[in-house]
Amino acid sequence: MTDQEAEVRVRNYLLEDYPQVRSIYDEADMFYEPFDTEDKFVAKIHRDPESIMVAVKSNQVVGTVMIVEDGRMSMIFRLAVIERERKQGIGPKLLQEAERRLKDRGHNEVHILVDQNNEELQDYYARLGYEKTSYYYRWQTKVL
Ligand SMILES: CC(C)(COP(=O)(O)OP(=O)(O)OC[C@H]1O[C@@H](n2cnc3c(N)ncnc32)[C@H](O)[C@@H]1OP(=O)(O)O)[C@@H](O)C(=O)NCCC(=O)NCCS
Repeated sequence: MTDQEAEVRVRNYLLEDYPQVRSIYDEADMFYEPFDTEDKFVAKIHRDPESIMVAVKSNQVVGTVMIVEDGRMSMIFRLAVIERERKQGIGPKLLQEAERRLKDRGHNEVHILVDQNNEELQDYYARLGYEKTSYYYRWQTKVL
């Protein structure tokens, strides 16, 4: 394997990446049917082609992240790295690219949602500069 093949590169999500992204979601137990089916990805990319990113190593998708922004506010969602490639800085690399894109779009603040019971993840994001806020929200969902 050449150095270039082993290098991790972040690029825009392409429609053919879906099976690999889906398997990363499944492994991380983060697949949520109403948001994460293939047709939802098609719709998201149609509306905002640069809003989903993947990390690629040796032609394989090893991580992913997405941004959600409406010109007024911005969020980063679905950061995930394939288990066998974790703890090598791929997550922060994806996060950095998502942040750069949002900054380029004029945002000077970004938000993430973190499981309130996952202290480890909260501390991890804090080390990456995400301040823990004192306010508390609960998701409430209605079927339309
Ligand atoms: C969180 C995640 C994206 C990090 O990616 P990564 O490429 O491994 O990131 P790094 O290279 O910085 O990994 C090392 C860090 O992961 C942390 N980590 C490992 N598992 C973790 C977990 N379940 N929650 C939080 N942090 C975790 C370690 O504490 C370590 O931190 P340190 O280096 O500061 O000591 C990855 O662990 C992952 O995909 N987790 C499952 C999906 C998930 O929970 N995503 C967040 C959705 S909000």
